[in-house]
Amino acid sequence: MSSVFTSSIGKKLVMGISGLFLMMFMVVHLTVNSLLLVPDGGDTFNAAAHFMATNPIIRIIEPILAIGFVIHIIWALVLTLENRKARGSDRYASGNKSTGVSWASKNMFVLGLTILAFLVLHLAHFWVKMRLTGDDLLEHVTVNIAGVDTLVENSYALVNATFGYLWIVIVYIVAGVGLAIHLTHGFWSAFQSVGLSNNIWRKRFTVIGNIFAWLVGLGFSAIALLQYLFYQI
Ligand code: HEM
Repeated sequence: MSSVFTSSIGKKLVMGISGLFLMMFMVVHLTVNSLLLVPDGGDTFNAAAHFMATNPIIRIIEPILAIGFVIHIIWALVLTLENRKARGSDRYASGNKSTGVSWASKNMFVLGLTILAFLVLHLAHFWVKMRLTGDDLLEHVTVNIAGVDTLVENSYALVNATFGYLWIVIVYIVAGVGLAIHLTHGFWSAFQSVGLSNNIWRKRFTVIGNIFAWLVGLGFSAIALLQYLFYQI
């Protein structure tokens, strides 16, 4: 049974399943973050952040998400090391330069490491303050949720203050572009790895994947930049 996950195909399957799961997270995360652009002083975003922080289903999914990230990273490391060992110094040489191997596919691991580095900084800025240490900026505010005045953390103030620093915004723009490139390969590759692709669908997944990748990656970048340019309190 364990060979299902440790064989070469099994490892690709694990990467594919965890990758698909992480992409679903990206869509939800980007959707919630896009509420930062509602021009109401942060009420809508604060209400959504409150829902995400208190909803029991989301609370159960969060540790699964963390495990998904860890598995995706560890399996990527194992696969990359195995590939390097198998190919030696001749990693991508095939005798034919036009084999169609994209820059993204050759650099998935480095792109992944860039995203990981971003994630450490990102969690330190937001998750750690919102879940562990607290922050003066988070002092509670009242928002109207479905007709009921509710006291919630002012997550908007923390995010808004963080995006008041140009260097942080630049990090988010670079990370967004890195994420987009990572996903241009990761999207179709994930479907291929879980066996949902064939010759016809491979081309379709490539096109859909490119659109998805740049929408998501540049979506995150744009939110940070717009917050910096137009939303500073
Ligand atoms: C505009 C860009 C982004 C904003 C404003 C943003 C905002 C946030 C906030 C406020 C939290 C804390 C949520 C909480 O603890 O209740 C969070 C957590 C998190 N973010 Fe982001 N994020 C952005 C981009 C990204 C990107 C690009 C990734 C992945 C590469 C990412 C991955 C995560 C993860 C894994 C968590 C922890 C899980 C969670 O709390 O939902 N975020 N983000």
